[in-house]
Amino acid sequence: MNTKQELLEKLTGIQSSRRSYYKELTVVVDEMKQKNKQLEVINHLTKIQINATWPDVSESIARQLTQLFSFATFILTLHEGGVLRCYTASEPPTQPDGSWECGSFILPLEKHLALQENDLDKRFAERFPHRTTSSVLLISQRNQALGFLTLLHDKKQGLSPEKLQLFRQIAEHAAVSVENMLLYNDLRKKVNLEAQLVQSAKMAALGEMAAGVAHELNSPLTAILGNIQLLQREQELTDYQQMMQDIYQCGVRCKKIIQNLLIFSRQEEFHFEDVHINELVEDALGLIGYQLAVSGVSVRKELSDKPLFVRASRHQIEQIIINLLLNGRDALQDTPQPELTVETSLVQEDDQDWVGLSVTDNGTGIDAELLDQIFQPFFTTKATSKGTGLGLSVSLGIAESHGGSLRVESMAGSFSRFTLLLPILS
Ligand SMILES: Nc1ncnc2c1ncn2[C@@H]1O[C@H](COP(=O)(O)OP(=O)(O)OP(=O)(O)O)[C@@H](O)[C@H]1O
Ligand SMILES: [Mg+2]
Repeated sequence: MNTKQELLEKLTGIQSSRRSYYKELTVVVDEMKQKNKQLEVINHLTKIQINATWPDVSESIARQLTQLFSFATFILTLHEGGVLRCYTASEPPTQPDGSWECGSFILPLEKHLALQENDLDKRFAERFPHRTTSSVLLISQRNQALGFLTLLHDKKQGLSPEKLQLFRQIAEHAAVSVENMLLYNDLRKKVNLEAQLVQSAKMAALGEMAAGVAHELNSPLTAILGNIQLLQREQELTDYQQMMQDIYQCGVRCKKIIQNLLIFSRQEEFHFEDVHINELVEDALGLIGYQLAVSGVSVRKELSDKPLFVRASRHQIEQIIINLLLNGRDALQDTPQPELTVETSLVQEDDQDWVGLSVTDNGTGIDAELLDQIFQPFFTTKATSKGTGLGLSVSLGIAESHGGSLRVESMAGSFSRFTLLLPILS
């Protein structure tokens, strides 16, 4: 009997009487299970995908942490430039499909090197007055503060010192994954930047060449067009009227290409002024509204009543709007109820306010694999007599020279939406 008791004590490490033996064994087994869970969580945290998005990472860490802690919301906070980017993930009890509520917000940072866990807890306490917060630092291998992990609990709850210690250990492992992601993102940005530099060097060379050729062609072409017009007035040449008309049309088309090339290479001087975007929309519609109406396209205007002023070349921005409207019209040729929507709005992006203008059509849409190509000079899917393929590349050039951008969303067979963003005039 004694030997059995001794043997059990040796095996389990439990000094116990027989009566409490099973109770204590259960406690040990529970502790082992808990330790196993912790190891599993840590294992998961080191396997976070390097190319995941930050909201996904936040949700994935939060999901793991529910196995060890009870909390209402998890926040992954990262230092970025002079701000703290905070990604929240909460498990809504009402959601039957188990999906998480994710969000993000930015906190400005006054003294960004010395921010401590307590400072962050105070900032969060102001933002979430009904919660208690527990934050732990994310420290990189090189001993740099990358950010924080935070748990928000119901007001009366909080983490015991042991649980806080565990949370810190978990943060150490999560920091490895976060640091890897940051390094990967850095590297990706550098590679993209390099590719952009090569591309812009090529475009600059092409632009210069195009400007030279365009200048050279402009004068002889003006002479050709002038002479053809003179010849067309000669009555005895009636047999050749059709041919001369064709020559004239081709000449006009060449002139249009040359003008586009000159704008594209930005060799022309433009006058900049402060102007409301709605005014430019009205002007552009005034110019081509009739053309659109004749094609049977109805135009819906959703113009914002906010003070959306930009500092811009009126002529150039109108040209973008006209290009977008004409492209829309072309895409609507076989649509039963062709409609173009022009919308202006205030857009917040990259912590900045922009004036947004979008032109949407319910036409052919654009195949996903062509989306990358439509902004390339001379890319067109239209008949040679119809499209030069310069409309969008010229428009993109103008948008960028105004410090803005031009982008597209589309679904083949359904719709296309082009959005122009310009810096708002403050
Ligand atoms: N709203 C749109 N819907 C469908 N496809 C579009 C739309 N806008 C542009 N595209 C596609 O992008 C291509 C390039 O457009 P871009 O305006 O640069 O040239 P283009 O319209 O063909 O010729 P140009 O504008 O010089 O007369 C078009 O040929 C067309 O295939
Ligand atoms: Mg076009």
